Amino acid sequence: MPTSSRLAQPIPVAARVDRFSYAIRNIVGAAQALEARGTRVRYLNIGDPVAFGFQTPPHLIEAVTRAIRDGHNGYLPSAGIQEAREAVAADYAACGVGVSPDRVLITTGTSEGIDLALNALADEGDEVLVPSPTYPLYTAVLATINARPRYYRTDPNRDWLPDLDHLRSLVTPRTRVLVVIDPNNPTGAVYPTAVRRALVEFAERHGLTILADEVYADTAFDGPAPLLATLDQDAPIISLSSLSKAYLAPGWRTGWMVVGATPRLDNVVAAVKKLADGRLCSPAPMQYAVVAALTGDRSHQARFRRALAERAQITADALNAIPGMRCVRPRAAFYAMPAVSLPPGRTDEDYVLALLRATGILCVYGSGFGMRPEEGTFRIVFLADPGELRTIYADIAAFTRDYLAR
Ligand SMILES: Cc1ncc(COP(=O)(O)O)c(C=O)c1O
Repeated sequence: MPTSSRLAQPIPVAARVDRFSYAIRNIVGAAQALEARGTRVRYLNIGDPVAFGFQTPPHLIEAVTRAIRDGHNGYLPSAGIQEAREAVAADYAACGVGVSPDRVLITTGTSEGIDLALNALADEGDEVLVPSPTYPLYTAVLATINARPRYYRTDPNRDWLPDLDHLRSLVTPRTRVLVVIDPNNPTGAVYPTAVRRALVEFAERHGLTILADEVYADTAFDGPAPLLATLDQDAPIISLSSLSKAYLAPGWRTGWMVVGATPRLDNVVAAVKKLADGRLCSPAPMQYAVVAALTGDRSHQARFRRALAERAQITADALNAIPGMRCVRPRAAFYAMPAVSLPPGRTDEDYVLALLRATGILCVYGSGFGMRPEEGTFRIVFLADPGELRTIYADIAAFTRDYLAR
């Protein structure tokens, strides 16, 4: 077609793109612009232990390289290789949750499990209960489905535990799913048994499926957090996890979904498998690492937990010493969610962008996780080594003093 007869208008994109938001990466543009002008940026926005020098266990690397050399480079069954599904089922059984390998899918990370499960469970206009603050992929996926997130509060004055009264007030006839992220990103909370039990009972009372995001279970500083399904094996719980955090291999994009044994979830397993057929399979060689991870040596996890606990303490101590800032001490994972008392009219995003420009430190504003902008929350990834963390917190303290004095 001659150039002159082409329409000049830009190609429109679908409306769902406007609704879709993932602040953890969306904010990187501002940091890159600063880097282009010569400022060193300290990226505390993404929870990737490998980026901070934590190493993937060698026996996992060996399993992947062996799989590649042995020619496991073709497509696989969409639910994953049988050995990996059996290893996941055996691991859940060892943790007190009896489940058959038929109920296990090997996924492209917890992320794909979230996408598959929400697509299998929620129609357009349905409602899903997500914590506030939340891991933002839940709301991003709901935006593509055109389903509605209803945020239930978790309370910083009570170690970021869910506000059960608020949760109860949100149920409507359209509510389908309760998302439970425990241990939690972004708050680092670990829920006590009584709270977990109340969440399971609540979901049962209202006929909701629980999406239990357990990707941080093995990072809880006091030792692995029990799986939610240990409280009630017949509850409709879908558990999600991966190699990304506790096995230090986030770039491999490999995880698992375990659909609870109750026959009430039979249609859901079938639906998830049907959807998974469309993406053929998750990465093949890495599925062999699932077997190595769940049947091999896990001594790295105790060392990782100790390193995280030390950093969490440094983080809480340093941030709580800053006038105008409060931080609940995390009990798992590698995130803290402090709040700064903002002057009227300012937002969490203003604060985070001003911090970035003044110090090169990149955090993520709490409104990217569903908090109100005026609450002044932001998320810090505390994986850097203790010495560097202390320098970072000194810079945050100096900046915050100036910012609040302005
Ligand atoms: C709560 C939570 N769920 C899911 C994910 C995604 O993990 P994966 O790398 O397994 O897809 C993350 C990553 O940070 C997370 O924090």
